[in-house]
Amino acid sequence: MNADVRSLSSHRPPPAFDLVLFGGTGDLAMRKLLPALYRRFGDGLIAAGSRIIGVARSAHSREAYLAQAQAACRQHLGADYRAPGWETFAATLGYVRVDATVAGDYAALAAILGDRPGVARIFFLSTAPDLFAAICRELAAAGIVTPESRIMLEKPLGEDATSARRINDTVGAMVGERQVYRIDHYLGKETVQNLLALRFGNALFEPLWRRGQIRHVQITVAEQLGVESRGEFYDRTGALRDMVQNHLLQLLCILAMEPPASSAADAVRDEKLKVLRALRPIGEAEALIKTVRGQYRGGIVGADKAAGYLDEPGVGAASRTETFVAIKAEIDTWRWAGVPFYLRTGKRLPEHVAEIVITFEQVPHSIFEGPFSSQPPNRLVIRLQPDEFITLRILAKSPGEAMRLKPVDLALDLGESFKGRPLEAYERLLGDAIQGNLTLFMRRDEVDAAWNWIDPIRAAWDADEDGPRSYTAGSWGPAASSALIARDGFAWHDEQ
Ligand code: BG6
Repeated sequence: MNADVRSLSSHRPPPAFDLVLFGGTGDLAMRKLLPALYRRFGDGLIAAGSRIIGVARSAHSREAYLAQAQAACRQHLGADYRAPGWETFAATLGYVRVDATVAGDYAALAAILGDRPGVARIFFLSTAPDLFAAICRELAAAGIVTPESRIMLEKPLGEDATSARRINDTVGAMVGERQVYRIDHYLGKETVQNLLALRFGNALFEPLWRRGQIRHVQITVAEQLGVESRGEFYDRTGALRDMVQNHLLQLLCILAMEPPASSAADAVRDEKLKVLRALRPIGEAEALIKTVRGQYRGGIVGADKAAGYLDEPGVGAASRTETFVAIKAEIDTWRWAGVPFYLRTGKRLPEHVAEIVITFEQVPHSIFEGPFSSQPPNRLVIRLQPDEFITLRILAKSPGEAMRLKPVDLALDLGESFKGRPLEAYERLLGDAIQGNLTLFMRRDEVDAAWNWIDPIRAAWDADEDGPRSYTAGSWGPAASSALIARDGFAWHDEQ
């Protein structure tokens, strides 16, 4: 079947595959990819004859690699780790030493892969992006990339439109666009796919999903964590590139896109692209009004003391890198004209939470006594993590003689309603790549459009003499973030 007509709901028996993990000893492979594959194995989703081949520069024996993989699965799966299956799973695992930049090293990989007609061949590039070009070039030169092969690319996909173009050009010179699986792990989250279900599985919301009915939208992805061991990377990157360019914009797209004709990959990706292209540009003149950037100083997060960003290992002493961003985004379409989308993300915030809050218009006229302002508008809250629930705030009469209205929540706890184990993002994404389903992966033009909106904001910040505003670790970011939204007469959900 052509990947074009594959949809989100495709349910076919899993085909056998060869999966080559570049960066096979790295953090992502150990923390996420191998545990995700082991879970798939436990669910009977790894077809007989499949192989998983870790590739890295160090000279590990296969036994040493297996031991490292097993320890990682044990550690990261916790109670879900099933010891009895390990030996069978381990039989699918191999290791090859390859220095990505050394042409001669690829012969060993080619020999192992051999010629296996009908077996899907997937290369997962979980390395620094500056190695993507060399890997693609050498794979092609060694004759390992077949027309059916798939290349999975982990973020960051460049640091601006130009570097992303360079990466995509190089990859595109080796393989066709339909062979490229660009990962945004947020699209692999069950909860994010639930947004599609909420919007397009229920007729209820469609007539309300527009200007005139929705007053404003907030998207918050807050982390308690700091930069952990990634100080050096993060200091070059910052929250705008690390979170907004990809995860927050993808959430925005799914919320704001027109209903696609089907869940086929290009039907969905075409609609997301239109949203990205309709985002009103934020240039130098607007950036200081419509954006806020912050950087945490020392404080208390939860019950723990947290060091300031400038004291994190790998971070420059005078760094101006932002660890917090708030943006007022606007979408210039008939559906969304005049409806602001407030985006907010940051590290060392008081909670670990990702949620979307949709505030509807106020009733046009009140027939009840009491101040009009005491009737807060309906509000839909979609909590994506750490727990998954949806609440709809409505007004109801509170008991008693007086006709007094009080807000109450209609609440749906999805974790409670469905007892099944939710798939981890990488389980889902690896499964989709093995099946050849591109719906949850970003197409090149989406990545370009996202960077085209982000780059002018970055440039405006770089030109601004003032750096990011300081905020205390454990707070909701700089006061300017509250001011950004207050100027329009609103408040962040957590400040109401
Ligand atoms: C990654 C960012 O893409 O997403 C990290 O590089 C961030 O900085 C992470 O911590 C957040 O993902 P999640 O799934 O924990 O919300």
